[in-house]
Amino acid sequence: MISERLQKAMNEQVKHELESSYLYLSMGSYFQSLALDGMAHWMRCQAHEETMHAMKFFDHINDRGGKVQLQDIHLLKSNWKSPIEAWQDAYKHEQFITSKIQELTAITREDKEYSSEPILAWFLNEQIEEETNTSKISTQIEMLGENSANILFLDKELATRPFTPGSPFDPTALPQ
Ligand SMILES: [Fe+2]
Ligand SMILES: [Fe+2]
Repeated sequence: MISERLQKAMNEQVKHELESSYLYLSMGSYFQSLALDGMAHWMRCQAHEETMHAMKFFDHINDRGGKVQLQDIHLLKSNWKSPIEAWQDAYKHEQFITSKIQELTAITREDKEYSSEPILAWFLNEQIEEETNTSKISTQIEMLGENSANILFLDKELATRPFTPGSPFDPTALPQ
């Protein structure tokens, strides 16, 4: 049975992951409005991935005999001054999520909730990937500055990220 404190913190994390999904969908919409379709696509792939993160916590809370208590989801931001600012925000947001996973890990150790350590180890690894991706793209777009030809080149590259098969965020996967 999951401790009260860990259950509460994991329920909070379900909300953070869903808010991440909503934030990245919002960034996708922003990029779409600038005709940066590759960046919009990348964000939609990420929005899908965040819903999977939320569900991983959702299922784990249940598997440990706890109860999922859903919370209000807030739209963290909906407009940016520039694509650079949006990517910098994505990197900052992932650093925030990493701090939350680290807090959860600290709680499991204090409460001797060892059964939750493997899933949190998975998330700690995942956060290394998320921070690397968003920090790398931020750095690249900062290097490109205002050069629109180069930004379009990066946009084309980001368009190659594959969707999880059957993702509802993939416009081609929706039922006709
Ligand atoms: Fe996540
Ligand atoms: Fe990831």
